[in-house]
Amino acid sequence: MRAVVFHGVGDIRIDDVDEPKLRAATDVIVRLTSSAICGTDLHLVRGTMQGMKPGTILGHEGVGVVESFGSGVRNLKEGDRVVIPSTIGCGVCSYCRAGYFSQCDRANPNGPLAGTAFFGGPADTGPFDGLQAEKARVPFGNVGLVKLPDEVCDEQAILLSDIFPTGWFGAELAEIKPGNTVAVFGCGPVGQFAVASAKLKGAGRVFAVDTVPSRLDMARTQGAEVIDYEEDDPVEALRELTLGIGVDRAVDAVGVDANHAHDGRAGAKMKPLRKHFRQEVEEIVPRPSPDGDNWHPGDGPSQVHIWAVEGLAKAGTLSIIGLYPSSVRSFPIGVAMTRNLTLKMGNCDHRRYIPQLLGMIRSGVVDPTEILTQRHPLTSAIEAYRAFDTRAPGWVKVELDPTRLAA
Ligand SMILES: NC(=O)c1ccc[n+]([C@@H]2O[C@H](COP(=O)([O-])OP(=O)(O)OC[C@H]3O[C@@H](n4cnc5c(N)ncnc54)[C@H](O)[C@@H]3O)[C@@H](O)[C@H]2O)c1
Ligand SMILES: [Zn+2]
Ligand SMILES: [Zn+2]
Repeated sequence: MRAVVFHGVGDIRIDDVDEPKLRAATDVIVRLTSSAICGTDLHLVRGTMQGMKPGTILGHEGVGVVESFGSGVRNLKEGDRVVIPSTIGCGVCSYCRAGYFSQCDRANPNGPLAGTAFFGGPADTGPFDGLQAEKARVPFGNVGLVKLPDEVCDEQAILLSDIFPTGWFGAELAEIKPGNTVAVFGCGPVGQFAVASAKLKGAGRVFAVDTVPSRLDMARTQGAEVIDYEEDDPVEALRELTLGIGVDRAVDAVGVDANHAHDGRAGAKMKPLRKHFRQEVEEIVPRPSPDGDNWHPGDGPSQVHIWAVEGLAKAGTLSIIGLYPSSVRSFPIGVAMTRNLTLKMGNCDHRRYIPQLLGMIRSGVVDPTEILTQRHPLTSAIEAYRAFDTRAPGWVKVELDPTRLAA
């Protein structure tokens, strides 16, 4: 079968690989009908999330049809349409039972303290082969897989695999209450769902920070008040727009590849931080492998945190859903401490939220496809990765179609 395979930092290819086989009683083989590219995949290819094993199939977003399953699977049948949660949980350990599926004690073969198990990730997350493929093995499929009703199409369902639940999780961690003012940093696919989720939770005002015009436009279409960090200083703008108070809640939907400002009011204030950011980048990605315009690590890993802790109101809450590897050591803890901020963060417990969000899509409360801007055959994935990596105009969320193998 065809799949997108990681060969090294800056080196991904479409390969012919063996089809997955059942290995455990609760395994399910899913024939994928939809997959997608996530900002997390970009961190892996840029090398800002290290430890990928060459040969690992990439991708952690998938929708498909149940093809076969082990003897321990009692709730699925062949032909069921399902959405695959990006993170893997066993459903019976104390963490899964409390809803912390991404902190499952049993899913990660590296042990209970190794961290979140997910598809298509670094060695210490499994490794599990990913979902940018024609088929995939889903461990604990009896727990993770959520059946899809006919009226929810693949284009809607693929956004339930990772990014809608993650945006929702970001809004939950931020403890958004009706009326709150909220700043969402990053208007990529995850940021767009954080904006949507903040609105669903009744936020009074939502500010969206980025610099890519088409992404800011999409946030504006959702009703967010946009701040271009290459024009405005986000901290000054957030204060000016809130009577000098700052926002009640902030969501970091950017992650380790954050950039610092180069122009405008924020760019002018950048100088004292330049050396700090350069050292951070060197620690995080000692051997980057840029290729022309592609695979450049972000140049300001802790920039969003620096802006968020200052743009928040006193006693505000920062929710971090952008991804940071364990090699990142800096956080503006002093400012956060002085201002009595609450910090919450983590990997999304996808399985916890998918049924509820599926209900919102089914009933028409949300149409997540407004964020889906591209659909390409799996065989065009490398070009799609390149365009998504450079945040090409109009490219927000890219669906890959594993059933179409030619352009
Ligand atoms: N916690 C989880 O479970 C989880 C799940 C899915 C994705 N993620 C993470 O969420 C993050 C976002 O994912 P995505 O697919 O939207 O990625 P993306 O790369 O498409 O989007 C990131 C956006 O941030 C913007 N940006 C860069 N520097 C910025 C800054 N200083 N201030 C404001 N915006 C800035 C970029 O222009 C871009 O639009 C990634 O780190 C990804 O790994 C986490
Ligand atoms: Zn993801
Ligand atoms: Zn578990």
